[in-house]
Amino acid sequence: MMRKKIVAGNWKMNLSLQEGVSLFSEIANMVKDEVRGEQEIIVCSSFIHLASLSNYSKSQNNIHIGAQNLSHEENGAFTGEISALQIRSTGASHAIIGHSERRAIFGESNELLSQKVNKAIEHGLTPIFCIGETQEERESGSFFEVLKEQLKKGVFHLSAQDFSKIILAYEPVWAIGTGLTASPDQAQEVHAFIREEIVNQYNQEVADSISILYGGSCNPGNAGELFAKDDIDGGLIGGASLKSRDFLDIINVFNV
Ligand code: PGA
Repeated sequence: MMRKKIVAGNWKMNLSLQEGVSLFSEIANMVKDEVRGEQEIIVCSSFIHLASLSNYSKSQNNIHIGAQNLSHEENGAFTGEISALQIRSTGASHAIIGHSERRAIFGESNELLSQKVNKAIEHGLTPIFCIGETQEERESGSFFEVLKEQLKKGVFHLSAQDFSKIILAYEPVWAIGTGLTASPDQAQEVHAFIREEIVNQYNQEVADSISILYGGSCNPGNAGELFAKDDIDGGLIGGASLKSRDFLDIINVFNV
């Protein structure tokens, strides 16, 4: 089965509403003019942007809108939280779950993340589920175990049918926002490992259908070599997704 090629932007906690709408309209116009391929484009913004961006993206069906988090609860007395249903009601279709900043800064555990994954799927939101090791875990050589645990506790409880709906992102923590990128070989090694774990847990067909994105200081200069690897199906882009030219150049890596 042909896996989807995907480039997802993660704007993190940046941009006012007006700035977000203006960056998005710039990106949408550039996509219209320059992107001819089949790749899927996702922009993950702060909650405050979602409704405006979804409205804007309606006319362009190759750009999808995503949140960066969601509540594991359905609804009710959870002041400050945002539910899957609320996200869906804006027109957004995706949600990043388990980003390393959520895990490290906000203490989100594998167990909590698995509940968020369930909520997203229950309400028809596609999870972009992130896993990744720290520098220390990379250096000690324990990173395969760490990644395996994150998969096992976060998403491997899903049925094959539900698992097939998710997107995975490998984001080595030491590469996020640091300017350090995993080498194409390092990234490929982990992506192949993840796919093998999916074969073991489910089967080859499921493993072959799942898009696994690389994230961590991805830019127009290194995306080509990374995305050329067999098991790398695109990228989750932080810093470079805030610059329309860079984001477009990364998207167009698939068209050269
Ligand atoms: P970066 O962030 O591209 O700025 O390293 C990636 C991410 O955190 O998703």
